[in-house]
Parts: sequence; structure tokens; C-alpha cells
Amino acid sequence: MDFKTLHLGDLPELLFLQKKVYESLEDKEVLQTLTEREFKEIIAQGFIIGAYDEGRLVASRSMYIPTPDEGEHLADDVGIKDKKSVIYSEISFIAPSHRGKGLQTRMGRQLIEMVRADGRFRDVLTTVMPGNIPSLKDKFRLGFKIRKTTYKYNGKKRHVMHLNLSQPYVRSGEPTRVHYTDTGWMLENGDDYVGNEFDGEYISYYRK
Ligand SMILES: CC(C)(COP(=O)(O)OP(=O)(O)OC[C@H]1O[C@@H](n2cnc3c(N)ncnc32)[C@H](O)[C@@H]1OP(=O)(O)O)[C@@H](O)C(=O)NCCC(=O)NCCS
Repeated sequence: MDFKTLHLGDLPELLFLQKKVYESLEDKEVLQTLTEREFKEIIAQGFIIGAYDEGRLVASRSMYIPTPDEGEHLADDVGIKDKKSVIYSEISFIAPSHRGKGLQTRMGRQLIEMVRADGRFRDVLTTVMPGNIPSLKDKFRLGFKIRKTTYKYNGKKRHVMHLNLSQPYVRSGEPTRVHYTDTGWMLENGDDYVGNEFDGEYISYYRK
């Protein structure tokens, strides 16, 4: 499967794919769709790729450079002072016909390489809905850690996840294994722990 950077001319097909994916979702909460304007900005920033199968766009993944003064900046959730070092892992969506082949994570690896090559960023941040297992698996496989579980976007429960490109987190001590649905524990104790890995059922947390 070919990956390529998307440009303005790809926008109609991208919006069409997003609509198809959204309509196919049982739980609409998992996907915060983007507007045409937001995609235009992401395309202008250059960190958006698509996967093509026989010339048809079947998946897309992107990153987004937030402005340092935006409200609810994720850097504030994890205590990063230099907001210029931050890029967000944004939206991913895969056509239902192409799920389960690890496409999301392969596109993620390519984007992270693009971000490293760019050289301006040290911290990749993102939010994940605690119940979205494919998304959680993807983030942990790419090296993201859960830094906090909190309420974002008008009261929605979200993990704030962080990938430090220059100094990967090194765990120490004994893990506390927490079931991925036990968000009560995470909301209460998350500030003192880092969620380091996920076996599909339990997340292993280590004291900071
Ligand atoms: C989330 C999404 C991007 C994953 O893409 P994908 O390329 O199919 O993901 P993968 O093939 O890497 O699958 C990831 C894992 O999740 C698992 N998985 C998928 N659906 C699952 C479910 N409903 N329950 C439990 N596990 C599930 C897969 O088995 C796989 O696990 P494994 O690798 O250990 O076998 C895709 O499903 C999608 O587009 N969903 C709708 C939009 C969305 O949720 N986007 C993410 C938020 S921006």
C-alpha cells in the first residue's frame, strides 16, 4: 500500500472518506471529525498522509501544529513549558474495508519520522478516549505514555498521551495494573503515575 502526503487537491476525497467512516461508526463519540477549514490548515502545515489502494484513498492520518496561545493547550496538562516544541497527533481514520491490518500504526510511524526529520518538535501530544482500544494500542505501540486522565472538550473523559522524541520515558519500580475501563482510578491517581504499556485489558502504571 502506498502512503503519500496529501495536498489541497485531495481535500474532496479526504472529506468523503471522513464522512463514510463517521457514518459507519456505532459510537460516534470516538471520532471528533474535522471541518474543511481545519483540514486546509493541516494540509498547509504538511503533516498529513493518505494510504491508497488501487488509486482510491482508504485511510488518512495527520498531525497538527497548535498555536502556543490556544485555549486548553495540551502542554498545560503535562507541564511542558516550551509550547513551540509541541505537535499534536490529530485525526486517523481507516475505511471499514481496510481495518485490522495495522494501517493506523504504520501511518503513525511514517508521520513520526517526518516530524523527527523536520527538527522543530520534541513533544508529540494527543488525547484518546479511554474506551477506544484500537487507538490506545496504536499510541502505546508508537511509544506514547498516558500522562494524565482528565476532562477535555466540554467535559469529555480523555487520556492525555505524550511521546517525548528526545528523551523516552524510562519506567522504574513495580507496576500497578489498572483495567482500561477503571477511569475512576486514573482520574484520582493519574497525576502521580505514568501509563506505560497496555496488554489489551490492563494498563501498567509506574510511579512518577
Ligand atoms: C481506530 C482505527 C483508526 C484503527 O485502525 P486500524 O488500522 O484498523 O487498526 P489496527 O489494524 O492497528 O488495529 C488495532 C488493534 O485494535 C484491535 N481492535 C479493533 N477493533 C476493536 C474492538 N472493537 N475491540 C477491541 N479491539 C479492537 C485490533 O484487533 C488490533 O489489535 P491487535 O493488533 O492487537 O490485533 C480505525 O478502526 C478507525 O478508523 N476507526 C474509526 C475512527 C477512529 O476511531 N479514529 C481514532 C480516533 S482519531
